[in-house]
Amino acid sequence: MSITDELQELHEQGLAAFSQAKGLEALEAARVAYLGKKSSLTTALRGLGQLSAEERPKVGQLANELRTDFEAAYATCKNALAQAALSERIASGRLDVSLPGRARPLGTQHLISAIVDEISEIFFGLGYTLAEGPEVEDEFHNFTALNHSPMHPARSASDTFYVRDLSEEGAAFDGPEPSELLMRTHTSPVQIRTMLAHKPPLYIISPGKVYRRDIADPTHLPQFTQIEGLAIDEDLTFADLKGTLDYAVKRIFGEDRQTRFRPHFFPFTEPSAEVDVSCGICHGAGCRFCAGTGWIEILGCGMVDPNVLVNAGVDPQRYQGFAFGMGADRIAALRYDLPDIRLLIEGDMRFLRQF
Ligand code: PHE
Repeated sequence: MSITDELQELHEQGLAAFSQAKGLEALEAARVAYLGKKSSLTTALRGLGQLSAEERPKVGQLANELRTDFEAAYATCKNALAQAALSERIASGRLDVSLPGRARPLGTQHLISAIVDEISEIFFGLGYTLAEGPEVEDEFHNFTALNHSPMHPARSASDTFYVRDLSEEGAAFDGPEPSELLMRTHTSPVQIRTMLAHKPPLYIISPGKVYRRDIADPTHLPQFTQIEGLAIDEDLTFADLKGTLDYAVKRIFGEDRQTRFRPHFFPFTEPSAEVDVSCGICHGAGCRFCAGTGWIEILGCGMVDPNVLVNAGVDPQRYQGFAFGMGADRIAALRYDLPDIRLLIEGDMRFLRQF
């Protein structure tokens, strides 16, 4: 048999072997037999040197065609097998679409935000609307307009965080002197901003962060959250203040709780009071939680001082108002009997997940 005939026969055998390979193993065997280093094709090519100069290029070309065909047949077969394997895996694999999905932990509202929302809702229900103010305030809104004397101790740098202007030396600074900027120490400046911007009647609730130069301990935080309320209208009296706060406190702590108004002093309200709620643990009998008094202090309030009305452009002859401020962190601590208020800001998930 001439070498050309041999190659032709090899061609047919090879193509048949590739096309009949039923699995990856058979395919690999065909590859070794027809394309491998010891294959008949390689042997035939090795014998090329012994051929006549006339025959050599023809046989060489034929052998190369064989190799190309084998490689193509190998690739086709390999693809077909991969495709078949995939189809089989899809057909035989059982997918139970009724199985529950993998649960991803969902974020929830922080306890403080939840309390702020809850208390705001109580006042929205009474017709109050939301007002907001900046956390970086100036002395006018935070102290002066709220009737603090120039020497009031709350203005001192040991009580209040002042904000330095760190912008370039000599750069234009339109606003109060840099030293007059501070982190607001309460939400009461929103009273001033609201009265300056809107005509009475006004009924607003204003939650937000406030800052004081306190060291964090079980009952203090240098940054905490207050909820401010302000009502300005004609004919508002202390009775309106009492009724409103008694209603709100009962909504927050429970219908069975009592309120008590104790005379107090705030520069911006006159008269002023602190409001206590009856102790939820001993119900007024006196226990360790309420230091034996039966009462727990929860907010400050009073009738808006006429000086404040004047400072904020409201006519005190025509309008009166009342204001109140409460600490959301303190309410959280009371409601959930928290031993340490710092738990609220530490971000410990074991604590936060409980709410
Ligand atoms: N701003 C007062 C405080 O931070 C609370 C308060 C608000 C008192 C409104 C009276 C009226 O202590």
